[in-house]
Amino acid sequence: MEQRDVVILGAGAAGLMAGIEAGRRGRSVTVLDHARSPGEKIRISGGGRCNFTNRLLTRQNATARFLSRNPRFALSALSRYTPADFIARVEGAGIAWHEKHLGQLFCDGKATQIVQMLVEDLHAAGGCLKLETSVVSLRRDGEGFVVNTTGGPIAAGSVIVATGGKSIPKMGATGIGYEIAKQFGLEIVETRPALVPLTFAEQDLARTVPLAGLARAARVSHGKIGFDEDLLFTHRGLSGPAILQISSYWREGDTLTIDLMPEGDISALLAAQRAEAGKKALHNALARHVPEKLAQFVVAQAGLTGRLADQSNKALARLADQMHRWQVRPVGSEGYRTAEVTLGGVATEELDAKTMEARRVPGLYFIGEVIDVTGWLGGYNFQWAWASGWAAGQVA
Ligand code: FDA
Repeated sequence: MEQRDVVILGAGAAGLMAGIEAGRRGRSVTVLDHARSPGEKIRISGGGRCNFTNRLLTRQNATARFLSRNPRFALSALSRYTPADFIARVEGAGIAWHEKHLGQLFCDGKATQIVQMLVEDLHAAGGCLKLETSVVSLRRDGEGFVVNTTGGPIAAGSVIVATGGKSIPKMGATGIGYEIAKQFGLEIVETRPALVPLTFAEQDLARTVPLAGLARAARVSHGKIGFDEDLLFTHRGLSGPAILQISSYWREGDTLTIDLMPEGDISALLAAQRAEAGKKALHNALARHVPEKLAQFVVAQAGLTGRLADQSNKALARLADQMHRWQVRPVGSEGYRTAEVTLGGVATEELDAKTMEARRVPGLYFIGEVIDVTGWLGGYNFQWAWASGWAAGQVA
């Protein structure tokens, strides 16, 4: 039987990073993946340019930018392998990058440059990549493990589970990492799709569908948390970065508050317009400030008709409520089919925060998205994959 010091299940962002680091320490490493190519999610990420990290991540803000039952768990790995460390690696490989906004860093060229860099580094570190090989099962064997794969069994001193979450099954997500965790008696924090478009009930859709395709800067809030980003009306409900972000906090039955015009105060603008454009139909007056379809929608939502001049202050206040404090109650999300990440996963209490090793199963490690650590949109999830993979690679 093939024998390796370290077998890594999953050649995604976290698995490749762990393989490189373990290989650099002289360990014999095999990284397995059932896909035809490694790093498929890296390849499609960031619209094909990979938002590979976020420059604004700090130890101080990390607990707010990562969701977990225990947000402090991620701090150790994140502060030992930082965005600056990954930027140095990218620059060392000669990959040009730029900052888009909010600290989000993207490749100037293609995301595949990042995959190529990681695969080259893995090979340079002596690691072996086995593709089109599915993990079938894992069992304890003395001090080590036997990984049963579609390519035969492999004996391993240590096993690192880097099989990711459940999002986008058609790209190879399987959830096998959770099954392995359960098999060894580890707790799983309930999983759910996150960074995902939200959907409306039929009666709400009937009103919003005419707006499908419209994107605008908005502020979307849920309780005390809010995001100022673009919002997109879709044929099923709402999407865009602001919605993806808030989806990680939203639960069925919750209401979101949306400011569709955060850059101005619509009551003040319309009050000022009343003198010179009072004869205009209200929705036409409003269309001076927002797209016409949105103006019609907001006026209808407020239940108003007639000319601007005819509107009482109370009516304009109602309109302002619809514009600046629109209350929406999605019924669900588009699910794992389109979710960028999976919330929940292997409970952090089960793992050592410094090494990612299962406390109760020496030699078994979990890294990346399979753990109950989920970042905001904007490069945070890859930074977690790099950092947790790096941490396990130092010791496995
Ligand atoms: P990842 O999912 O990358 O890798 C897991 C690997 O395990 C896969 O290669 C899979 O094939 C393999 N596998 C699963 N089951 C297996 C089995 N039974 N046998 C063998 N192999 C198996 N994040 C970010 O920071 N910036 C961004 O720009 C984006 N953009 C983005 C776009 C889209 C469309 C998605 C879906 C996601 C993002 N993300 C992102 C999130 C990011 O892709 C994600 O957080 C990381 O890829 C997680 O890395 P992991 O290595 O943990 O899992």
